[in-house]
Amino acid sequence: MNQTNWKIQPKDVLNAGPVMPVMVIQDLDDAVPLAQALVAGGIKVLEITLRTPIALEAIKLISENVKEAIVGVGTITTPEQLKAAEAAGAVFAISPGLTPTLLAAAQASNIALIPGIATLSELMMGMEYGLDHFKFFPAEAAGGIPMLKAIAGPAPYITFCPTGGISPDNYNAYLALNNVACVGGSWLAPADAVKTKNWAKVTELAKQAIDNVIAA
Ligand code: 3PG
Repeated sequence: MNQTNWKIQPKDVLNAGPVMPVMVIQDLDDAVPLAQALVAGGIKVLEITLRTPIALEAIKLISENVKEAIVGVGTITTPEQLKAAEAAGAVFAISPGLTPTLLAAAQASNIALIPGIATLSELMMGMEYGLDHFKFFPAEAAGGIPMLKAIAGPAPYITFCPTGGISPDNYNAYLALNNVACVGGSWLAPADAVKTKNWAKVTELAKQAIDNVIAA
């Protein structure tokens, strides 16, 4: 297979593990050790958000140095950001919402977009572009588990990664739903642990998250 034409699919991203850390990297020196700590704890799929000025450099460093990781970019809102993240080495992208411009740009690119939806109309727009895997955001605020169960009625073949308000207390309840493949959350890369470079704690949190998944 020609490696340059290979595009990871959204379903591969969502099925690569039950939990996806939402990472906010303030200090470039933290990028590789944070990613390594998560991988050591059993988490391969990493979402690095574009919420800090060094995010793209962090993506580049992680994709070059942490080969076991499946590196993605988060908080994407424009085609320009999508292009820049792909150039930095991200193989998937997560957006908090969706627009026709962003969906079209992703379709024409080599990066897998998992757009966020919070309503049926947004879901239908994404489906018009052939997508069947979405982020459900902000999960808890947008109706949580009852909303996901309700969506399963009219959209039985759609799979979600709920994010926003997910924690160790509720993630198993989300993962128990048939239309949920994984959950995302910042609790897996907490700001205090990163600030104090407590990589052992990050690894421990990752391990706990994986070990405590209750088989559905
Ligand atoms: C996201 O961008 O997906 C959310 O901000 C993460 O939400 P959380 O902090 O509630 O996990």
